[in-house]
Amino acid sequence: TSTLEIRPSDHAASPEERAKLMTNLRFGQVFSDHMVVIPYKEGQGWGKGVLKAYGPIEMSPASSVLHYGQAIFEGFKAYKQKDGSIASFRPEANAHRFNKSAARLAMPELPEARFLEAAKALITQDQAWVPGAVGESLYMRPLMIGTEAALGVHASNEYLFLLMACPSGAYFPAGVKPVTVWISDEYVRAAPGGTGFAKCAGNYAASLVAQSQAKDQGCDQVVWLDAIHREYIEEMGGMNIFFVYQEKGETVVVTPELTGTLLPGITRDSLLQLAREQGFRAEERKISVAEWKAAVAEGRMTEAFACGTAAVITPVGQVKSRQGEWTIHNGDTGPVAAKLREALLNLQHGLAPDPHGWMKKI
Ligand code: PLP
Ligand code: COI
Repeated sequence: TSTLEIRPSDHAASPEERAKLMTNLRFGQVFSDHMVVIPYKEGQGWGKGVLKAYGPIEMSPASSVLHYGQAIFEGFKAYKQKDGSIASFRPEANAHRFNKSAARLAMPELPEARFLEAAKALITQDQAWVPGAVGESLYMRPLMIGTEAALGVHASNEYLFLLMACPSGAYFPAGVKPVTVWISDEYVRAAPGGTGFAKCAGNYAASLVAQSQAKDQGCDQVVWLDAIHREYIEEMGGMNIFFVYQEKGETVVVTPELTGTLLPGITRDSLLQLAREQGFRAEERKISVAEWKAAVAEGRMTEAFACGTAAVITPVGQVKSRQGEWTIHNGDTGPVAAKLREALLNLQHGLAPDPHGWMKKI
């Protein structure tokens, strides 16, 4: 017996309405017709889920998520393939990270098979919402929240797993044009022992004031430094970061090492592998702000770029910080970012071989 009941919406969008909603796609603004909901109760475990019309959910105002913030989420994408089929990129890696986040927030783990079953069912049901152009996709947003109605501070004994889907284009309004970043020196995203490695809602809530400082500085994104030294680059507001060095005639792609305080991005992991396959050396290590500035000034660093599910690969054209401002690659997209972006998108759209078996067909 299936653990998921399929209950199609009786007010799904017409093809005309859908076509209208899917023109000029931005990120996360349009939702498909359906969602998946799976309830959890302590003692009973995960119950039977349902795929049903996308819409409001009802819960108690005393729900623990609203007070104490037990909320985790994920993000992955389903892509139209060259042959017209649909495949999602490394969804089992997201299922795995979801459970790492759950464990950190004292939430129950969802069996990976149920995460993947929900994804497959929703993508199948809403396949008409998967856009076709390269760079467009159906962004899948799984979420888990604590729903016990009780004000005592303890782990909730009831949860909801939710999965929704958004046909999406570029994350940044300017598309793939290089972005400007602000290095946050006042606020810290995550400290050792905290929740930095988890994809929990609170990390994002705590980042918004720094993101608005970045906006005030005319920047698109904030760059976070480590909490102890306030010196080493960790990641960006919603993406990881890579640097491109030229060392003794060799191109080296470098990203900050995983410290427990930054999100272990699935795009980051994929790019470390893709970069090696494209003939670059790839390294994970610490990089300080001072080194960033000096390496650009000395011409040793030729590019920097952000990467993530939503951002794909977005070049960093300019950096602003209290230590000064600097421009990378004349503020234009560099060849390494462009090459890796193309390699990643080609793989995701089935236009290039998939030696790792990263694409999961629906
Ligand atoms: N860092 C943060 C804080 C993020 O929110 C994300 C997005 O998910 C990433 C990095 C990139 O992770 P991934 O490549 O798995 O999307
Ligand atoms: C993603 O890339 O999936 C993210 O979650 C980044 C941001 C939209 C939170």
